[in-house]
Amino acid sequence: MSMRTQVGIIGAGPAGLMLSLLLHREGIDSIVLESRSREEIESTIRAGVLEQGTVDLMTEMGLAERMQREGAIHHGIELRFDGTGHRIDFDTLTDGRGIMLYPQHEVIKDCVAARLNQGGHILFNVEEVQLFDVSSNQPRIRFVHQQQQIDLQCDFIAGCDGFHGVSRSSIPVEVQTVFSRSYPFGWLGILMQAPPSSQELIYTYSARGFALVSTRSPELQRMYIQCDPQDDIANWSDEMILEELQARLATKDNWQLRLGPITQKSILAMRSFVIEPMQYGRLFLAGDAAHIVPPTGAKGLNLAVADVRHLSRALVVYYKQDRTDLLEAYSATCLRRVWRAEHFSWWMTSMLHRFPDDDTFQQRMQRSQLEYTVRSRAASASLAENYVGLPFDW
Ligand code: FAD
Ligand code: PHB
Repeated sequence: MSMRTQVGIIGAGPAGLMLSLLLHREGIDSIVLESRSREEIESTIRAGVLEQGTVDLMTEMGLAERMQREGAIHHGIELRFDGTGHRIDFDTLTDGRGIMLYPQHEVIKDCVAARLNQGGHILFNVEEVQLFDVSSNQPRIRFVHQQQQIDLQCDFIAGCDGFHGVSRSSIPVEVQTVFSRSYPFGWLGILMQAPPSSQELIYTYSARGFALVSTRSPELQRMYIQCDPQDDIANWSDEMILEELQARLATKDNWQLRLGPITQKSILAMRSFVIEPMQYGRLFLAGDAAHIVPPTGAKGLNLAVADVRHLSRALVVYYKQDRTDLLEAYSATCLRRVWRAEHFSWWMTSMLHRFPDDDTFQQRMQRSQLEYTVRSRAASASLAENYVGLPFDW
């Protein structure tokens, strides 16, 4: 069987779903192909922080009703080290920009519901996705859906299938350059049924390693501790995790973590990764398919949204004005923001984690960096500007 659409989108993560919504707004037709079920994508716990620009875009697109009701706007974060907390105040350090704590799977639910309400096509549980003729004017995606093989003829393909997707491998190795770094630690993340311990996120550097206090709702808290990336989560009892969190977060004024049952725990690896260019022929990569950042800067989802905003604009001027200039500039335009986020995420990661082979000199360097960041207005402002997110057209 064969089908046709203007833009074939592989992956129903934030990048793919948002792209289909942005294109629909301009009358451009798309089909989203997703290998997992709707239930699975709507329940996978991932990001929690939305930049101001992501919030503004969701609002502009009529996707913000539940986010405004259930999300929480934060105007700062805490950096904690040597047993003392230091607030980075976004209000005074940026031009009034902030962040929204609203879980990624809720964004996914809102986007799926909106797209299906529009009568849009999202095919879940697709298998054996393959790309063909991406360097021609008629690229195709072949896949299996409900035991039927389908050939989807497209004008363009958007590879929004995340880091483990298939799209990236359609860019020939001789035209691509890959930049990557893996870190000698992972994050052990938990969900805990407890009230919030803090009004804002706490990023902590301690001799025992990094810890982060984040939130999901007034009843559910999200926390992370640096750990060995090869460790098995089965080695960590709930008591050990809570003890480690308390030890790393301890302050001189006896701050207390509010405790409750741990309902989920897992370990994730940390890496930085970029492929250049993000486009080949009529295949355009967006989001994690093209780049990965360690989560310390909370940038991954936001970068995915920024990419598809550029891609949708480029496709709109192609269809409406017969212009190809923005499509040709797509990779370079995205990569400027991607590399800024890569640097910021690497910098936050380097400043806040214990590296296994650091000597005492390196540890003093880290401490000096932390002190400078909280004591200098210029350094605090730089952190704040990057954290709330640079404007889309930066
Ligand atoms: P994905 O969300 O990975 O979506 C890709 C989709 O493609 C998936 O649904 C997948 O099932 C599908 N797919 C894969 N292969 C195929 C195939 N062959 N065929 C069809 N479909 C396929 N980012 C932030 O901005 N802020 C944060 O606070 C933050 N915290 C994080 C915390 C954790 C624990 C993790 C793991 C990540 C965090 N991130 C954060 C990163 C963020 O979750 C990702 O950057 C974001 O999901 C990228 O969106 P995407 O649409 O590009 O890819
Ligand atoms: C989260 O809430 O999951 C979260 C928050 C901030 C980060 C990373 C993850 O930097």
